[in-house]
Amino acid sequence: MIKPAEFKRRRRQLIQMMGPGAVAILPAAPEVVRNRDVHYPYRPDSDFYYLTGFPEPEAIAVLIPGRKPAEYVLFCRERDEKRERWDGPRAGQEGAVRDYGADDSFPIADVEEILPGLLEQCTRVFYAMGSNPDLDKRLADWVNQIRRKARAGVHGPLEFVALDHYLHEMRLYKSAGEAALMRHAARITAAAHARLMQTCRPGMHEYELEAEFGHECATRGARFQAYPAIVGGGCNACVLHYVDNRDELRDGDLVLVDAGCEYGYYASDITRTFPVNGQFSPAQRAVYELVLAAQEAAIAKARPGNHWNDPHDAAVRTITKGLVDLGLLKGTVAKLIKDGSYTKFYMHRTGHWLGMDVHDVGDYKVDGAWRELEPGMVMTVEPGIYIPPGMRGVPKKYWGIGVRIEDDVLITKEGHEVLTRDAPKDVADIEALMQAR
Ligand code: GLY
Ligand code: MN
Ligand code: MN
Repeated sequence: MIKPAEFKRRRRQLIQMMGPGAVAILPAAPEVVRNRDVHYPYRPDSDFYYLTGFPEPEAIAVLIPGRKPAEYVLFCRERDEKRERWDGPRAGQEGAVRDYGADDSFPIADVEEILPGLLEQCTRVFYAMGSNPDLDKRLADWVNQIRRKARAGVHGPLEFVALDHYLHEMRLYKSAGEAALMRHAARITAAAHARLMQTCRPGMHEYELEAEFGHECATRGARFQAYPAIVGGGCNACVLHYVDNRDELRDGDLVLVDAGCEYGYYASDITRTFPVNGQFSPAQRAVYELVLAAQEAAIAKARPGNHWNDPHDAAVRTITKGLVDLGLLKGTVAKLIKDGSYTKFYMHRTGHWLGMDVHDVGDYKVDGAWRELEPGMVMTVEPGIYIPPGMRGVPKKYWGIGVRIEDDVLITKEGHEVLTRDAPKDVADIEALMQAR
């Protein structure tokens, strides 16, 4: 887990960037009702947790650079013996200071009374407008109240600054502590994928693999998934966001599994595609080997100094050339790339940032140009080829083949580390593991 000193270091870094005369306001995520009295399992907002390490709902963190005696004020729930008997312990104001590093803490119910007074003393408000409509409105009301006092010499905030932009720049660069958590999440997920290869048999259902995956992650300490698992047998693999996971797995088909656990609030994200019966057909193998070659070409480009788009370009080049070699595309590689013909088979991008959120934060372009890769960034590399049944101009033996291969890659000083390398992906390794069932 991330240590209190690291949360403190993050707040210090933000405080230094904000400078004097500023205030940052950051609310905790609300609890969300699933049905009547039942809530979804509570997951803190990633920005809020990144800065505070505070896991409870109904809280607002306030940072005021240079304010004495308290630069970091945390509004949170009061202790409540009766409620705590039902819902578990709360930090309360004492815990907020003692365990979570707040300089001062007040009950969340007092925010209306205290926060406007803090705002009055500031000229710039760092706040992520639009992500919490209720607080947006209250903040606007408080600022208007302050403006009405102008004749009494009170000025209050003049400028709003996008807090999320600053936090997201920080979150893009993973510390050693964050990398360790992501490595752990990746290892659990890799083991769960290997487990599915050992479990899978024709006649099972997609949901059985999903259940096995969740079970393996949970017994290794990761109770929650970073996103709903995609388990697509046969042509279901060609539906990119397939999450029904209800069909039977058929002999002779491939199954695509895109699933990753969350550990310590950090995501992993692996896709593996393997034959339901343990043996690739020649057509399946040809497509699979091509996706694997594209993925390896892309991973080779994941190193400092290259740009965000270099891995994608490498994957597109390899896939396009391979599709021409297989006779599935006709023309010159350069032209097929230029006119986007390859998108008939490969219609998504090769990856995304990965971190506390599975599609993590951070800009992909800076001043209009693709961002340079730097140590500490974590990205996925996940090319694929999808051939739904009935695709015109494509021999029948390829119909219903959908392949994606996805790994999580940490950019390091020397190049990169594939965090998810333990999940088998070579044809020989997959077949050997499956034949040993
Ligand atoms: N599992 C979501 C993604 O691969 O982007
Ligand atoms: Mn994925
Ligand atoms: Mn992904």
